[in-house]
Amino acid sequence: MIALYPGSFDPLTYGHLDVIERAAYLFELVIVAVLRNPSKTPLFTVEERLNQIQKAVQHLKNVDVDAFSGLTVTFARKKEASILLRGLRVVSDFELELQMAQTNKTLAAEIETIFLSTSTEHSFLSSSLVKGIAAVGGPISHMVPQHIEQALRERSGPKEDMH
Ligand code: PNS
Repeated sequence: MIALYPGSFDPLTYGHLDVIERAAYLFELVIVAVLRNPSKTPLFTVEERLNQIQKAVQHLKNVDVDAFSGLTVTFARKKEASILLRGLRVVSDFELELQMAQTNKTLAAEIETIFLSTSTEHSFLSSSLVKGIAAVGGPISHMVPQHIEQALRERSGPKEDMH
């Protein structure tokens, strides 16, 4: 079975990577799908995010990275993915995720959403939290892969003295 893992990934965190690595054991192919969202102003362009994710998953042979616009289920059909994959961190994620899964089910009844629970050590993580910490020069090496940390450092403002 092919699983599509859609999201903004602005940027990819260790929480996302944990979900991808575990899904790679479960499915024959995992496609990480970056949404081209004209209504959001991202920190990184879609092309930058594709490169960042590609580098982070290069050790996983059955993981592809791609970008899409429009409906997630339309892209899933195009890629012949029968599974939509999402990570659940905390209970508060559940409401929106359930709503999205149920909406997607009305749009494409043959596609199932499967949730993987994020490992406890990553349950606090979010891309916006990482960006917020990076913006003031705080430590993020336990949150994102090294090359993404470097990209965040280059993109973010002046460093705060952490001492
Ligand atoms: O990482 P995010 O921002 O939480 O991901 C949200 C995403 C991309 C999965 C969701 O916004 C999405 O699927 N957008 C595409 C438009 C769509 O298919 N909408 C209907 C389903 S809710």
